[in-house]
Amino acid sequence: MLSAKAKPYIEASVPVLREHGLAITTYFYKSMFEAHPELKNLFNMGNQANGSQQQSLAAAVFAYAANIENTAALIPVIERIVHKHVSVGIKPEHYPIVGKHLLLAIQHVLGDAATTALLGAWAEAYSLLADALIDAEKRLYHAHRQQPDEWLKLKIIDKQHLTDHVIALTLQAIDQQTLPAFKPGQYISVAVNIEELGLRQIRQYSLSDSPSKNTYRITVKREIGDEYKPKGQVSNWLHQHTRVGSVLDVSHPCGNFTPDIQDEFPITLISAGVGITPMISVLNTIASENPNRPVLFLHAARNRANVAHIAEIEHAKRQIKQLQSTLYFSEAQSQNAEERQGSMDLSLHVTPEFKTGSFYICGPQGFMDEQRETLLELGVTPENIYREVFGPESLNHLIH
Ligand SMILES: Cc1cc2nc3c(=O)[nH]c(=O)nc-3n(C[C@H](O)[C@H](O)[C@H](O)COP(=O)(O)OP(=O)(O)OC[C@H]3O[C@@H](n4cnc5c(N)ncnc54)[C@H](O)[C@@H]3O)c2cc1C
Ligand code: HEM
Repeated sequence: MLSAKAKPYIEASVPVLREHGLAITTYFYKSMFEAHPELKNLFNMGNQANGSQQQSLAAAVFAYAANIENTAALIPVIERIVHKHVSVGIKPEHYPIVGKHLLLAIQHVLGDAATTALLGAWAEAYSLLADALIDAEKRLYHAHRQQPDEWLKLKIIDKQHLTDHVIALTLQAIDQQTLPAFKPGQYISVAVNIEELGLRQIRQYSLSDSPSKNTYRITVKREIGDEYKPKGQVSNWLHQHTRVGSVLDVSHPCGNFTPDIQDEFPITLISAGVGITPMISVLNTIASENPNRPVLFLHAARNRANVAHIAEIEHAKRQIKQLQSTLYFSEAQSQNAEERQGSMDLSLHVTPEFKTGSFYICGPQGFMDEQRETLLELGVTPENIYREVFGPESLNHLIH
């Protein structure tokens, strides 16, 4: 617990951090990478460049300060961070490095306002948060029977081009040994060496098939970039440099976006674009393990040709008797009960039966915010809505 002496300093610093949070984390990363360039291999330098990682760490610090008296609100956030950290191989010895540079950054940005007492309070708060993360990460590594930064060597045994920009890679252990189990909705991290950057880079990809096959399948959309932003490093590398027989460094499956498959309550799966990947894993698993469950499957894409794994949705319809599925397309096309044109309208699908069940959403942040808003308007309880963000989670909802 935070000491009585430190508490007022932490509470008083919430508005200050809000004002300077981004400046603090931007300075923090700059000074840390100067002192420890090897850590660039650990962090997502794409998120560094587009600003989302800076915002996420700033938001984690705010969220912590804002909820210092209400740690229950932090539990799901901490769980997500722990899974992400374990998937990239964070070790206890990394924490003092981050702590040191975070305090230096607070000191630099706040100048004279960063009194010894304020810095002392943050050193104490950081070490409490760090200890909680280190402990939880230790437990997860232990559950995986894995050392931090230990990677599975997996061979690509199949590569499919699903749409213009999406491939599916099926991976197997090189010695064909049993792969670590996973829950539908989890992801793996993939580490690749990007020669043009001179860096190793790690990215997460949701597992896109059911866990029954002793293989992992990932489905990767190529970020092609445009005049305003460069092409994505790892997704393009995976499209261009992999073939059947290539070996990839892959983490143990991680993530807490994991519906209870065996539950009998209705479940609604809502996705857009490549956000379909965890949903297909859940759908395929319900089809084989719990086919009597009521399932609502709603997906938004540009057109039919852009729906990855569309044949598996058709297959699931034959297996799951109570599956209702509707695809929404932004491009014009003929309409019927199962394919519509325009924006997704949840009020047409969420019947009183489904309203009491659970909701899983994955897609671009704006899409997810919109669907969550509609669900709340329809009377769904927030505790039954789960989201997966394909980037660092924005924690702004925790800041009052
Ligand atoms: C839990 C989780 C699950 C995921 N599952 C999947 C999945 O199943 N399938 C999938 O395809 N993806 C998935 N992702 C996303 C994936 O991890 C990668 O983020 C994605 O492939 C892009 O990585 P990249 O290296 O190609 O792009 P990066 O190089 O990381 O770039 C990311 C974005 O930032 C932009 N950017 C880079 N530099 C700049 C700059 N200087 N200025 C402005 N913008 C810039 C790029 O244009 C790009 O749009 C998932 C992510 C998470 C966290
Ligand atoms: C108390 C300390 C820390 C906090 C509060 C924290 C917070 C976070 C948060 C909020 C995320 C984003 C999670 C998400 O995807 O939603 C994250 C990811 C990450 N963290 Fe930490 N972290 C801490 C310590 C560390 C340390 C010590 C390291 C190692 C040097 C580290 C390395 C990373 C990496 C590599 C990622 C993935 C980021 C990416 O994709 O670029 N973190 N952390």
